[in-house]
Amino acid sequence: MKVVEIAKDIYSVGVRDWNVRNFHGYLTQKGTSYNAYLIMDEKVTLIDSVKAPFSQELLERISQVIEPSKIDYVISNHVEMDHSGAMPYLMKHLTNAVIVCSAAAEKEHKMHFDTSGWKFQTVKTGDTLSIGRRSLSFLMTPMVHWPDNMVTYCPEDKILFSNDAFGQHLASSELFDDELSLELILAEAKKYYANIVMPYSSQVVATLKAASSLDIRMIAPSHGLIWRKNLPAILDCYTKWSQSETVKKAVIVFDSMWGSTEKIAYAIRHAFEAKGYSYKFFDLKSNHISDVITDCLDAEFICVGSPTLNKNIMPSVAAMMTYIQGLICKGKKGILFGSYGWAPINMKVMQRFFDESGIETVASYNLNFVPKNEDLKKITEDLSAKL
Ligand code: FEO
Repeated sequence: MKVVEIAKDIYSVGVRDWNVRNFHGYLTQKGTSYNAYLIMDEKVTLIDSVKAPFSQELLERISQVIEPSKIDYVISNHVEMDHSGAMPYLMKHLTNAVIVCSAAAEKEHKMHFDTSGWKFQTVKTGDTLSIGRRSLSFLMTPMVHWPDNMVTYCPEDKILFSNDAFGQHLASSELFDDELSLELILAEAKKYYANIVMPYSSQVVATLKAASSLDIRMIAPSHGLIWRKNLPAILDCYTKWSQSETVKKAVIVFDSMWGSTEKIAYAIRHAFEAKGYSYKFFDLKSNHISDVITDCLDAEFICVGSPTLNKNIMPSVAAMMTYIQGLICKGKKGILFGSYGWAPINMKVMQRFFDESGIETVASYNLNFVPKNEDLKKITEDLSAKL
C-alpha cells in the first residue's frame, strides 16, 4: 500500500486489518486500522505504531518515505498492544529514536516489553517538543482509554493526533471522512464509543473541554478515517454521547427457552410502539452484545428478559448484563421480564445486575410457564400507562 501525504510532509504510514472480527470481545464486522503518522521535519517523528503482526508492513511503509534509522522521535500516545505491539521490532530498526510518552506510558512499555536500550522522554500536559518548523504539544487524556493516554497537537498544521479518541473500527481503502458515507463512519464511531469509550465519559468531557481551546482543522485518530470535513459532526456526537444524552428509544434484548420470554418481549414492544417510541429488538440467539450495547448508548429504556435456567438466567443474557455493567449504563430506565417454571429466580439475578449497573427498574414482568393472551395484554397496558 502506498503511503499518503495527509498534509505537507505528514504521511499516513499505518496499516489496515481488514479481517479482524474480534477486538477483545467487540465484533468488528468491518475490520479496523492501526493508524500511524510520520512527520518529516528537522527531527523526523513517528506518531504511534501498530499491532505486532503488522510490524514489517509498518516498517516498509515508513521506508517508502525515509530510512527508518533516521527517525528521531516516536511519540507513543498509548501503549495498548494495537498501538505498541510493533515496538520491539520497530526499535531494532529505529536505532536513534527517543520514545516520547506520558510517565504512565513509560512504565507500561516496561511492563509489556524488554525495553533495554530504549530511550524515553516523558511529557505532561502543556509540554512542547520542537522538531524543527513544528512544535508539537501534548495533552494528557488519562482513561481515554488507559491511564497512559495522551493526544498530540501540531499547531502549525492544526492537526490533533487523537489516538483512540474519535476512532472507528473500520477498514477502508479511503483515508478521509469525506471519501466514504458519513452515515457509515458515524455509525462505526458510535459503536466504537459505546464499546470502548463509554465507561470513561467523564474523562471525555474533560478532554473535550481542554481541546476546545485548540484550533483544529484535522483530527487524525489511530483507528479508522481521518476527520477533515465533518469535525463539527463528530465533536457534536462526542459531546452528546459523553453527556449520556438519550432519545425517545427503547432497547429490548432477551433470550428465550421455549418462547415464553419472547412473547413477553413482544408485549413490551407493543407498549413502546403504542407510545411512539423508536425501539430495537434483539434476540441474543441472533445478535452480538457489541451491537446491542451500541443501541443502548442513546436509549432511554433498556429492557432485558430471561427465563430461569438452572437456578440462574440464560448465559447469553448474563453475558449481556455483565457487558452492560462494565460499560456503565448508569441513569437509564430499566425493565426486566421473563418466565419461569417453578423457581422465579431469574428476576433476582437480573435485578442484581441492574442495581450494580445503576439502572433504575421501572417495571418488571415475570410469568409462570406459558403466558396467556390476556396476561400479555395486561403487560402491554400496564407498561403503556407507565411510559
Ligand atoms: Fe486502540 Fe486502547 O487501543
